[in-house]
Amino acid sequence: MANIHIKNTDRTIEVEDGSNILRNSLRYDGEVPNRCGGGYCGTCLVNIEEGSENLDKRKPAEIKKLGEDILNKGYRLACQTFINEGDITISWDKDMTKQVQKRKVQPVKS
Ligand code: FES
Repeated sequence: MANIHIKNTDRTIEVEDGSNILRNSLRYDGEVPNRCGGGYCGTCLVNIEEGSENLDKRKPAEIKKLGEDILNKGYRLACQTFINEGDITISWDKDMTKQVQKRKVQPVKS
């Protein structure tokens, strides 16, 4: 089992290893903002404050929507991100989310 500490709502939810951040938030009222669920809108942008080493690999949808710069600052899309095992702490910031929502999807460099 793993824990997701959600700073904005001051909640900690216990979740299964290998499970998705957004799905857990929806199931346990974590209140992570969301809209599309598919990696397109950017609404579920979360800053991984602690435990990024406990997450799975970045998805192509995240690389396209966020780009390496934003990913390297510790952000992920909650709808695309799974916890391997261990605890994480997340937060979100409306201004940063707005910037990402406006961002055009970038082609992935090969
Ligand atoms: S909910 Fe739209 S990108 Fe995650």
